[in-house]
This record gives sequence, C-alpha cells and structure tokens, in this order.
Amino acid sequence: VVFLSVVGTVYLKSVKQSDAIEEVERYIAEKKAEINPRYRLQYHVAPPVGWMNDPNGFSYFRGEYHLFYQFYPYDSQWGPMHWGHVSSPNLVDWKQLPTALVPEEEMCFSGSAVVKDDTMILMYTGRLTTDVEPFFNETQYLAFSDDGVVFHKYEGNPVLSFTPNGSPDFRDPKVWKHEGYWYVVIGSKTLDERGRVLLYRSPDMVNWEFLSIIGESTGGMGYMWECPDFFEIKGKHILLMSPQGIEPQGDRYKNTHQTGYIIGSFNYETYEFVPESDFQEIDFGHDFYATQTTEVDGKRILIAWFGMWDVPYPEDVDGWAGAMTIFRELDLVANRVTMKPVEAMTDLRTETLFEGEFSEDGIIEFGKTGELIVKGDLSKNIELEIKGSNGGGQVIVRWDTAVRKVVVDREGDVRQVEWLPLKSESWRIFLDSSSLELFCGEGEVVFSTRVYPDGDWYVTNRSPQALDTVAYKLRRSVPE
Ligand code: FRU
Repeated sequence: VVFLSVVGTVYLKSVKQSDAIEEVERYIAEKKAEINPRYRLQYHVAPPVGWMNDPNGFSYFRGEYHLFYQFYPYDSQWGPMHWGHVSSPNLVDWKQLPTALVPEEEMCFSGSAVVKDDTMILMYTGRLTTDVEPFFNETQYLAFSDDGVVFHKYEGNPVLSFTPNGSPDFRDPKVWKHEGYWYVVIGSKTLDERGRVLLYRSPDMVNWEFLSIIGESTGGMGYMWECPDFFEIKGKHILLMSPQGIEPQGDRYKNTHQTGYIIGSFNYETYEFVPESDFQEIDFGHDFYATQTTEVDGKRILIAWFGMWDVPYPEDVDGWAGAMTIFRELDLVANRVTMKPVEAMTDLRTETLFEGEFSEDGIIEFGKTGELIVKGDLSKNIELEIKGSNGGGQVIVRWDTAVRKVVVDREGDVRQVEWLPLKSESWRIFLDSSSLELFCGEGEVVFSTRVYPDGDWYVTNRSPQALDTVAYKLRRSVPE
C-alpha cells in the first residue's frame, strides 16, 4: 500500500489496478506477435493491439509529451475503455508506455491531463460498467502520477457528478489553469437533445462549482457535443468540439459526426462566451474526430482520432483498429483556425525521391510512406491519382478551378471544400501505410482520410499541367 499526498488529500494506491495492468501488458505482449503488419502505420500513433479511439490527456510533463488514448486491448472493436499511453521528446518519435488506466467499477472514458506541483493529474469520465444503455450515468474521476508512468486513482472519486439539468450525458473533461483556478469544460446536452458545453471551476481539482454554459446548439447543431476544448489564440477564444447528429448540408457535414469550432470572446468575470463566428469544420477528410489540444512554448498543438464512429476498419481483421493523425500546430488567420503539420515532421524525411517538374502522366513511386509537396498553376486544374502499386487504396486529389474547390475522392466517396490560399499555393501530402493527409497552403484546408493500398504508393500526375514537386521518403518513428 502506498500513501501519496496530493491536493491536500491522502489517498490509497489501488492494488487491484496494478495487478490488472500487469495482466493487460502480458496480454498485449503475447497478442502483438499475431498482428498482420500490412496496414501498420509507420509514423502515426496506433494501438499495439486492439482498438483505439479518442486522444486523451495530451500534455507536457518533465520534458516529454504524453499522449493517452481510448483503448480496448482485447478486441479490434470498442469495449470497456482503458487508457493506453505513449510519450515523445519531439512529437514524432513515440515510445509505448504501460497502459495507464484500466476499468474497475468505471469504464475510463475520455479526459485530459494537467501538471500540478510536479504531479500529473488525469481527469476523465467514468461510466459504470454495470450501466446499460439507455440508462447510464457519467461522472468525473481523477488519477495521479508522480512519475508519468504509474497512475493511482483518487480514493474520493468521483469528484464531479452534477449537471445543471440532471442530464446523464456528461463527459470528456478538458482542464486548464488560469490565475490560481482550475477550469474544466465538459460535453453534455439539454433535456430536449441539443448539444452543449458546461464550464466549472475549482481551487484544487477536487471541489468544483458550476459556472456557465459556454455554448449550446439552437437546434441544427446536433444532439450531443463531445470532446470540448476551449483555448485562446491571438486574443480570441476558440470553442472546439465534436457535435453528434448535424445533418449533411451540401458538401458539409458528410461524416457520421463532425469536429469543428466557433471563434468568440470570453470574459473570466462573467464566464460568458460570445460567439463571433458560425460553427466551421476544422478538417474536411473522411476520418477525423474527437480532437484535443495542448499548449507548449506558446504553440497550440492539436491531435485527433484518425477515425470515425460506424465506419469499417479494414485493419480490424489484422488484430488492431484505429490511429491518431499527425500532430498539427494551430493558428488563427482571416477568421479561420488553420492547421499545419508540426515543424518536427520534417525530421522524418530520409531520402529525396523526386525534385523538379512532375510531368503530365508522370509517376512517382514511394514505398509505404512518403511526403509530397506539389505546386501548380491554380488557373488550371490539378489532379493526382494516388493508389497502391498492386491496386486498392485509390484516392483522387483534385483542384477544380471552375468552382475553386479542393476535392478528395476516395473510391467515389467525395469530400470537397472551397479553398482560398493565404500565402502559399502548395499542397503537402503525407502518405503512410494506410492513410493520407492533405494540407493546403498554410493549412487553411486540411483533409485526413484513411485509405488502404495493396503494395506501395504510386502517385500519378493526371493534371493538364506539369507540377513543381518535391517528394521524400519518411522513416518509421512509432513502435512496430
Ligand atoms: C468520443 C467518445 C467520447 C467518450 C469516448 C468513449 O469519440 O464518444 O465522448 O468519452 O468516445 O470511448
């Protein structure tokens, strides 16, 4: 039994928890040998075995980035949630750490991490394993670590269990500190099924008071807002969240659920958030959900689940499912939140595969990974055909000059959006064994799409013009 004193409270290490973690780790080590490597990503975080969804607890602790994730080791489908854990010195090279949280009476749903007095504190949603839908209750739990590896659940859990309207949907706490207080935003809904985000405050992470409703759907904005995040860029506040149940409208909202943001102003005296923009999607690809950000050295870094609910995961027969996107740095430019790959992504480049004029009908052959930077004349169309050397995984990436839209067509399933370049007219495309990420210009428009090639990547220039191009091979940076 270990006694630790955090936030002025003495709590007990749960012995059961550490036994359960050993069992999970033993299972992972055995099961890993059975994984089929064909679609394993080489520079995206993915579960060692089993299922992954949301990023959790994205934080910086004692010189390392920490990322946790919704994890079910025992099947490549969602199940009672654990928290998987990886760490990195630089946001590209990741190391697998032991599973951080395993479910006991509570499934460990999404949440965040903060550092207080050199202790890492996780705040997450617990949903009782005995609850059966549609009857359930969600409350907020804490866990602590003094080394960033072994976590102890707080004895006084749950620490926060009241919504102003009694709604049982109350999940995904995102905590931050501001002038001596801890603040948290949590996803919830009204009793007539409109998504909303609640704001609470605490002096010590244990005692919480309700402050305000930061945002709420007026009807067309979905029945539940998951994974809220709330932060400042260039003097504006950004409410980033994942609404469920927005109806498709033309090119917009075509995924099962959406992730996007509202720009506005926030006042720490009245706790009021005044929106100054409509809700806008932050990524236009097929597979992107449940974002989380953290700020390090004045940079706001974002990570998202490179996945979506209720879609097929062709890798699930291989013993795993789901991944994270690459890490992106946010900025606020011309009333848009832009997303650029973090600078460290250039460290993945090994060999330059091509540099110069990529001629019409020319082909660039990559291995399983690659980065392609192309620039064309935007008064003409651009079209790249990206596919597996033995077939499969076909994506057409296109600039349609007539409508000034960027189009990502995955085997007939189209996502498209208008693009107004800010400073740069280049595209940066990241290919991994089963994924594609397209960043247009300074990240005004981004698409994240999972795609499954057979063999290596082949890129053909189908444009009616040659393109200014550089192509790199990228190295592995995550565990096998
Ligand atoms: C979002 C979400 C969260 C929840 C978690 C459960 O994808 O539904 O709201 O905490 O996944 O795994």
